[in-house]
Formats: sequence, structure tokens, C-alpha cells
Amino acid sequence: MPRPPTGGPVPRPEVRRRPSTAPGLAGRPATIPPPLPPIPRTSDSAPVPAPASSPAPVAAPAPASSPVPVAAPAPASSPVPVAAPAPASSPVPVAAPAPASSPVPVAASAPPAAVPPRRIGTAPPADLFALRGVRIPLVGRERELADMADVLARAVDFHTPQLITVIGNQGTGKSRLIAELIENHTRPPVRVLRGPAVQGGGRYGPIQRLMRERFAIVDGEPPEATAARFTAECERVFGDKRVSEVRHFLGQFLDVPLPDMHSPDSPFLRVLGEDPVRHDEITRTVLRRFLEEDAQESPLVLVFEDLQWADDDTLQVLRDLGTSLGGCAIVLIASARPELLVRFSEWGSGTTDHLRIDLRNLEPDDAAAMLHNLLARCDRVPPEIVEDAVEMTGGNPHFLEQLVRLFLDNGTIDTSGEKWRIDPDRAAETELPISIEEAIEARIAALEPEERDVLEKGAVFGNVFWTSAVVALTRLERAAAAGPGPDGARKAPGAADAATLDWTESGEPIKRRILALIDDLVEADYLLKLDPEDSTIAGETEVVFKHNLERELIAKSTESRRLATYHRLAAQWLETKLPARSEEQLEFLAQLYERGGEPHRAAHCYLAGADKAMARYANEQAVGLYSKALSMLGEDDALARLSALHNLGSVLDLIGRTDEAHRQFSEMLRLAWLFDQKGKGGAAHSRLGRIYRRRGEYDRAMEHLRAAHELFTRASDRRGIAGTLDDIGKVHWLRGAYGQALEFHRQALAIRRALGDRRSIALSLANIGRVHNDSGAFKAACRQFREALDLRRDIGDLSGVVQSLCDLGGVHTADGAYEMALEMFSEAHKIAEDIGDKLAQSEVLSRLGECKAAMGRGSEAVEHLLEAISLANLLGHKAAVSECCRRLAEVYIGMGDAGQAYDYARRALAISEEVGIRVHVGTAHRVLAEAIAASGKGDADQMKRAEEHFVRAVEILAGMKNELELARCYRSFAALCDVIGKPADAAKLRQRAEEIFGRLRGAASID
Ligand SMILES: Nc1ncnc2c1ncn2[C@@H]1O[C@H](COP(=O)(O)OP(=O)(O)OP(=O)(O)O)[C@@H](O)[C@H]1O
Ligand SMILES: [Mg+2]
Repeated sequence: MPRPPTGGPVPRPEVRRRPSTAPGLAGRPATIPPPLPPIPRTSDSAPVPAPASSPAPVAAPAPASSPVPVAAPAPASSPVPVAAPAPASSPVPVAAPAPASSPVPVAASAPPAAVPPRRIGTAPPADLFALRGVRIPLVGRERELADMADVLARAVDFHTPQLITVIGNQGTGKSRLIAELIENHTRPPVRVLRGPAVQGGGRYGPIQRLMRERFAIVDGEPPEATAARFTAECERVFGDKRVSEVRHFLGQFLDVPLPDMHSPDSPFLRVLGEDPVRHDEITRTVLRRFLEEDAQESPLVLVFEDLQWADDDTLQVLRDLGTSLGGCAIVLIASARPELLVRFSEWGSGTTDHLRIDLRNLEPDDAAAMLHNLLARCDRVPPEIVEDAVEMTGGNPHFLEQLVRLFLDNGTIDTSGEKWRIDPDRAAETELPISIEEAIEARIAALEPEERDVLEKGAVFGNVFWTSAVVALTRLERAAAAGPGPDGARKAPGAADAATLDWTESGEPIKRRILALIDDLVEADYLLKLDPEDSTIAGETEVVFKHNLERELIAKSTESRRLATYHRLAAQWLETKLPARSEEQLEFLAQLYERGGEPHRAAHCYLAGADKAMARYANEQAVGLYSKALSMLGEDDALARLSALHNLGSVLDLIGRTDEAHRQFSEMLRLAWLFDQKGKGGAAHSRLGRIYRRRGEYDRAMEHLRAAHELFTRASDRRGIAGTLDDIGKVHWLRGAYGQALEFHRQALAIRRALGDRRSIALSLANIGRVHNDSGAFKAACRQFREALDLRRDIGDLSGVVQSLCDLGGVHTADGAYEMALEMFSEAHKIAEDIGDKLAQSEVLSRLGECKAAMGRGSEAVEHLLEAISLANLLGHKAAVSECCRRLAEVYIGMGDAGQAYDYARRALAISEEVGIRVHVGTAHRVLAEAIAASGKGDADQMKRAEEHFVRAVEILAGMKNELELARCYRSFAALCDVIGKPADAAKLRQRAEEIFGRLRGAASID
């Protein structure tokens, strides 16, 4: 016999025998039915259950002790499957409810109904439940069968439609149970029609199969004959000749095309043709009316098996039938695997008379009895074989049968003699080749309902959960079920006098029961209890699912309606237990609320998680969380939406997804306008302004910034006003209007100092420093840069620190203090990478390139600059691209590659002219001049061109008083003058350059 898992060819998880925690099996037969003799089978003694192709099989009563139920022979001469009419006023008491102890049904007194023929040419149905020709008796399930028989009798006796749903995993015996009910508890004139669902079947497949049976439709029959019979039946059932419309609607449920069926010439149908929804409604109503009328003739049992495979429309129709059928003897019997209830949670809701039967695996004793029955022909069955088989199959009837089949196939059972002989050694070696899924299903099916309930609640939390969570969920669930009103209040858990509430660790019944169940589940290897000190929630006992696949199956097969409640309650419980929440916990909470149908609370958890992610520069994560939050925040939560849009836009902007950032800020602007939120509108405008400024579209940038300034002013938002002043100042700086730039930055700084916001003070200082730097006030520049850097380090403003390091490093580079500059750049680069700030990375790389070039490390410089260009391109930052190109041209000049230098200098000039940054235009002219001079030595025309570009550069740079760039320009212009024989000009230029550089050196060597 197989042992769990032995690493055989088919890997499978343990299928262990479940310790039976079930209450006693009172009412079940204590003894196992005697072994069955082999019964020779002939075709005319075929037992029922009939497959779908056989209409209305009617079994003669078969006592449970008789192994082979014998079907009533169907007269082949009766062509139409119509039962003998039973007057509506006198319901035919067909199957009297059979007491559980007496499996013999009480025979009905009604005359036998006409039984339709089998399909022509088909063999009598084989017994689906037989093994080697023998069907063993049903084991256990007496209560289920009796309940179902009661329901059947109620429908027939009182003309009240009933719904029976049998739910169970693969092989738990759903089909067999239904077959037993029909064979033993239905008798003519009760008619049984079957509409099984099949995998991948089409729309209305099950109903079509049922209709085939009802109208005895067979393949190969001429369509005219089928149509004639169909019409005649409709006329008869409705007692009316005018059935053309009825035929049209009912014909929707036929899978055979019949002539003149689907488009009769009716004005009513023509109108309906334009309204498919209404058409569908009427189709369903006609089906219901047909069944109700039909059932007036004689009761109907409609069996729909395997509904987990049915199409949605069939499920909808059947559900509607369950709620709307009235005043007739119809029993709908449905069977399905549990996933049906996951997919279609509304199944059975609204139906007053609904019996739901949940079939689990057999209890160990019953499973053992079943195995004995299967092996009845063996002379002796060693007890350990039985024990192992029950353990391995988990008591699943289908697997038990499979195992015996395997024994027969692989020679474990010797069938050559009168008595079969079983070989215990071979049995021990036999592995049941079930898939992992089947094995897991078997283990889950073996759970008691209460145990399963605990696991379902636990699984909501994921792979681990806490005992007190399940206790809380159970209490809350019961409290909700107790309902409102004084009665409910009395029954609700915890409704007693508040002073007497039992808080002890083991006192109160619900808690006691759950703790015991969890212990059982630990014992049975489903769960593992962690040591208290390992619990992620202090003071709570944490429990782990031992097998993840089991947890998944549990979670997957929990009914969706209950699942939503569990998720909601679990989120609430967790919230009370986790005061300080990490990002992951917030995201998890959000998911719980989301699944629990509370999108608004979910959104706020996502927002809180996103804020945390943003704060630690986990940018991609922040983008994901903000996007989720936004998708879930209702239109009415304006404030949260505004802040989410702002933050999402900022993160997107930071990582270079500028267009998306633009969308968020625009949406923020629109929303702010809708709610007349001036401050928020100002913020949106200023962010849009910055995007345009970065793209070099200064006029558009100024429009937005001015709008921002106005809105902030009207909202008396001083922080906003200061920020906008700085932003405007920066545009002036970029355009080379240093005087105006300084004015704006100083105004901003004054407001910021008054507000005492250090982060912004640093920003204004840096801006002022840059203006000083560019206009040659190096000493002042360095002072501002250092102060800004200190402030930024103090408050941990990493983006700001990178900026300040670049600013200072730039001054050191210009001053020739390369090592110092390199140190600053490498620190800046590391931080920029850490925080994922692409713009800052590009800036650092560009500066680094410039510095390395100055140090004579040309190829490294090229590498840095190319990378900086690609980042700047990615961000759409044209100003940065032009600056990098200009620097690259300078590097190539240093490396003696005048051609490349010329190309990059041209590019730098073109872009900077397009963007309109004057200082860049000026320096680009200078570098272009240098490139031309380098390539055209000895060529007078080229020298003339170079001179022209130098003159242009000096004009621009002197005009805007950019001293540093001017000094650089003077110096190389002087070199050209030497070459073209203008020594006096050269000397003059050199002197001016030296004067400026002298000032610079003093400034950079402050400390
Ligand atoms: N209680 C039982 N006693 C004896 N045999 C049983 C019992 N339950 C099921 N069986 C046998 O086990 C086999 C599987 O049962 P059945 O086909 O009814 O399972 P099912 O639940 O319909 O499975 P599926 O989901 O695959 O349709 C059948 O041969 C059936 O006769
Ligand atoms: Mg079945």
C-alpha cells in the first residue's frame, strides 16, 4: 500500500487520515452490508442511472440490500415522452418520504406514465457507478437521501416547487446520491429530465440537453418531423393552437434548427427584435410558463448536474426559475463542485424552498465499509490495507474506487479463482496516481464544516493568521447573523451584561471551540502554531498554513459573499492590532478593504502606504500605490484626490515620466477649479510651470507661474507665494536676466525666512548663489551654496544636498580644485542614485564630465556626458541636453577631435537657441568658435568664422554680465588672436580674463 508521499513518479502531498472530530454517526447502519456475489450482467438487466441521452428513466424500487437496482423496461413503442396526465387538482403522491432507516420507497399508487423510448440505435445505458459490472450499495448518506426524498414528496404533494443543490468536490458522490434518489424515490408519473453541463459547453447548453430529452429529439431525424412534434407538444401543453410565438421563444432553447421556428411573421416579434434585453426576458418567462404548464400533467424532476461548467446565462435562468416557479410540482436538482458558489454566489438566493446538501468525503468508518464492499469478492482483506487506503484517499469514494481499479489492473488482486485474492505486499507498493490538485482537494473535502470555517477565516489573512482574529471574525459574524431588534440583541455574542463578559484566555464558548478546532487542525497537519515570541503581532498567537496549496484552495473555494465579509472584518481587526503600520501592512490592509467591498477605506490605506513609499524615494512603488488609491477614491473625496494627484505628479516628474506628471497636475488643476480651491490651483499651476520651464518653453512657464502667484496671493498662501517667486526668478536666471532673477529670489528668501521653513530657505539661497556665480560674485556664491548645503544636510533633504554639492563642485572645478570637486560629485551621484532622482543624476554626470575633462581624463568625461545626455533626453530636459552637448564639444576639443567637437557645438547652439537660454547660446558660440579654430588652422576663412562666433559670444555674455563664461571666452579668444596675428588684442583679452579668474580663486578658497 502506498504511504504518503514517497517521492514516486507522481509527486503528491500527504493525504492523511483525518482524526474524526465529528459527532457520533447516530442513525447510520452499524453493520456493513454483506459482500456481494458477482452478478452476471445482461443487457436487459442494466441498472439505471441513465445518461443524458435517455429520457426519464424510472427505476423500480430497489431495496438497499439488493446490489443491483433493476430498471423498469421502457416500452419501445411509445414515441412521445409525455406522462399520463394527472389532474391538477389531485397531485399524485408519488414517492412518499422514506424514513432513513427504511431504504425501500413507498410505491406510488398512480398509474405508470408513458415512458419515452431510448434513442434509436443506442445501447442500454451502462451503470456508471459499477466496478467490474457490480454496483456496490450506497454507504452513509442516509440522512441526505432522506432529506432529499422529503423535499421531493413535498413538491409532489403540495405543488410547491423545490430546489435541491448538492455541492461537493470531485468524486464525493453527488451523481450517485442523485441517482439513488431518482431510482428509489421517483415513480411514474413523475418524469425526470436531465440537463448536465459539460466543460466548454455553449450558451444554454444544459437547458438545451434537457429540452432534447423533453421533446425526444434525436439526431438524424428529419427537421420537419421534429418541428411537427415540437409544435404539437406546445399546443397540447398550453391547450391552445396559437403557439407560433411560444414556439419562437422556446425554440431559443433548442440546439437544432427547425423550419419556420425563429422568425415567424409576428408584429410583436418584430418589435422585440429591436430590444434584445426584453426579448431575453420573455424567452425566460415562456420557459417558466411551459414548465409550469407541463408539470400540471405530471410532476417534473429536472436534474442539472455539474453546474460548475454551466454558462452564466444558464445559471441565471436556473436561478430565476428557482425564485419564480409557482404552484406546480417541479423539483430542480442541481449538483456542482464548490467553485460554482465562488463564481456565482447568488446561486439559490431568493428561493424559499431550497435544500442545500454539502457532501464531504466519507467518514473513516464509512470509507472502510465502502472499500470492503468494493473488495467483497476477496477471500480476506487485511485490515492494514483498509486502513492505508482510507488514509490515502481521505475517504473520497472516487479515489477509493480508483484504488481498487488499480489493484485489479496491476495484478494486486488475483481474479483467476472463484474468490479473489489480494496480495498485501503489492498493495503496499501501489501508488494512487492522483494529481496534486486532486490530493489537496481530497484533504480539504475531508474537513469538518467547522474546521473548514476556521481555515476559511484564517486564509483571508494570507499564509499566516492569528487565533484571536478567527475568534473575532466568528463573534462578529454571529453578531451580524443575530440581527437587529431585541431578539437579535439577546442572542448576539457579548450581549450579556457588559460587566460579565468573559475576557479570559479560554473561558467563553466561541473562543474555546475555535482554540480546540485550531489544535485539531495542527494535529492533522493543516496548520502550524508559532512560538508566541515569533508572532508578528505582539501578544497574539500566530498560526501558519502548512501547505500553501491547501490555503490557496480554501481561499479559492470560499463563497464570494462570505469572503467579502471576512475581508472587511479582517481589515478592521488588523487595523486595531497594528497601530504603526508599515507600507506592506498598509498595502495589505488596503487589499483587504478592497476585497471587502470598501473601496474608500482601501484608498486611504493605499494613500498612507504611498506617502511612506514616496518619503523613502521608493518611487515606482509610490506611483503604483497612488495610482491604485486614485482609482479607488470616489469623486466626492476631493481633498484626498487633490493631494494624491499632486504627489503622484511629483513622483512621476522626479523619475522623468514628465508627460504623465503633466496629466496629473492638469487633472489636479481642473479638480481644484471645480471646488474653487485656490491654493491647490496655485500648486498645480506652479508644477505645470516648472515642467514647461524645464522644457525651455519659458513663455508658457511664465503664464503658469504668474497664475500660480495670483492664486496663492488670493489664498494668502505665503509659502506658495515664496515658491512661485523663486520659480519666476529662475526663469529670469535661465534667460540671463540676472538682476531680475536676484530680485525675485531675494523676495522669496525674505518670506521664507519669516516662515522659518529651512528646506525652502535653502532653496532660495541656492538660487541666489547660482545667480552670483554666473555674474562673477564667486565669493558670495560660495557662501550661499555652503549655507544651503548645511541646511539641507541638517533636515535630510537629499535632493537638495545633491543640488548643493553640484553647485559647489562646479565652483571648485572652475577653480582647478579637481579632487575636491570629484569628491563632491561622487557623493552627489550616490545620493541621486539612491533616491532615484534622474534629473539630479543627469546634472551630476554632466558636471563630472566637465571636471574630468579639465583633469585631462577625456574618455571618462565623454562617457559621463553621453550618459547625462541620454538621461536628460529621457526627461525631455532640453536645457540640460544643450549644456551637455556643449560640454562634450569642449571635451572633444581637448582630445583633439575637432570634427566631433564641431558637431556637438552646433547641436548645443541649435538647442539653446530653440530653448532661449541666453547663457547657453553665448557659451555655445564660444565653443563653436574654438572647434572651428581647432579644425581650420591656417585657413583664413575658417579663422574669420571662428572670430565671428567669438565676437557673438562676447556680446551675449557681456550683455548679461556672466563673468565666468565671459572670462573663459576672453581666454580662448586671446589664443585665436595670437594665431591670426593680433597680439595686442590677445594681450587685452588675456588681461581681462585673468582679472575675473583672480576674483574666482579668491572666492573658492574661502576655507
Ligand atoms: N456513499 C457512497 N457509497 C458508495 N459508493 C459511492 C458513494 N459515493 C460515491 N460513490 C461512488 O464513487 C464514485 C464517484 O461518485 P460520483 O460519480 O457520484 O461523484 P461526483 O461527486 O458526482 O463526482 P464529480 O464531481 O466528478 O461529478 C461513483 O462510482 C459512486 O458510485
Ligand atoms: Mg458527478
